[in-house]
Amino acid sequence: MLHTRIIVAKNAEEAGKLAADVFEAEIQKKPACVIGLATGSTPLPLYRELIAREKAGKIDFSRVRSANLDEYKGLEPTHEQSYRKFMQDNLLDHISIKPENTIVPLGKAEDPDKMCEDYEKKIEEWGGVDLQLLGIGHDGHIGFNEPEDYFPAMTHEVQLTDMTIDANKRFFDSIDDVPRAAFTMGIGTIMAAKKIVMIVTGADKKEILKKTFWGKVDPQVPASILQFHNDVTLICDEEAYPF
Ligand code: GLP
Repeated sequence: MLHTRIIVAKNAEEAGKLAADVFEAEIQKKPACVIGLATGSTPLPLYRELIAREKAGKIDFSRVRSANLDEYKGLEPTHEQSYRKFMQDNLLDHISIKPENTIVPLGKAEDPDKMCEDYEKKIEEWGGVDLQLLGIGHDGHIGFNEPEDYFPAMTHEVQLTDMTIDANKRFFDSIDDVPRAAFTMGIGTIMAAKKIVMIVTGADKKEILKKTFWGKVDPQVPASILQFHNDVTLICDEEAYPF
């Protein structure tokens, strides 16, 4: 909480625009910066705004590198519900970023442990994440780091909780189609980002938002670790703001 900057936007659209300001400033300062990207419905207004701003000549993504937080285990990159496909459809295909400069964990990795290690190495080779975008799950998960007894350090495989499977079933034909496991950057990977922007919108996130930034730091609320990061900007809307 000490270092968290809190911005309360009127609604989700405005939250997206305010987050876009942070991305625009970062890319202007460092044209080859490394941005950490997230999926879910929360970042969609931001992604629409980033696409519009590049079209308007305000941002240039041609040297930017991107690393995504997570991916479902077992899904091909082309699968309708894979996070790789989500990123292509909602952002990457519409900006000038080079395909070879975008990484998402591989859902169908032959050797999952090696894939996770290589993912960490790639981020390191790029010099680390400059600006990481985060949403939040209703149980406080970030990426797919679910409530645990500890904070997982590196990119790793996780079993999804029933709450997360239930929250994500809206994207699949049936709940049985939702993968039970995923790969995610670890809490350590996320905390190593130089700057973090978290977007939280909607009344259903109010309770978890309060626990995250105004509760105790606890691996049962994985996002609460952000209280210990020294450069977090929380952008929430009026519905999600707990006070
Ligand atoms: C998934 C993603 C998270 C995301 C969360 C919330 O679980 N792995 O990165 O923050 O969903 O999604 P939404 O923004 O749709 O509420």
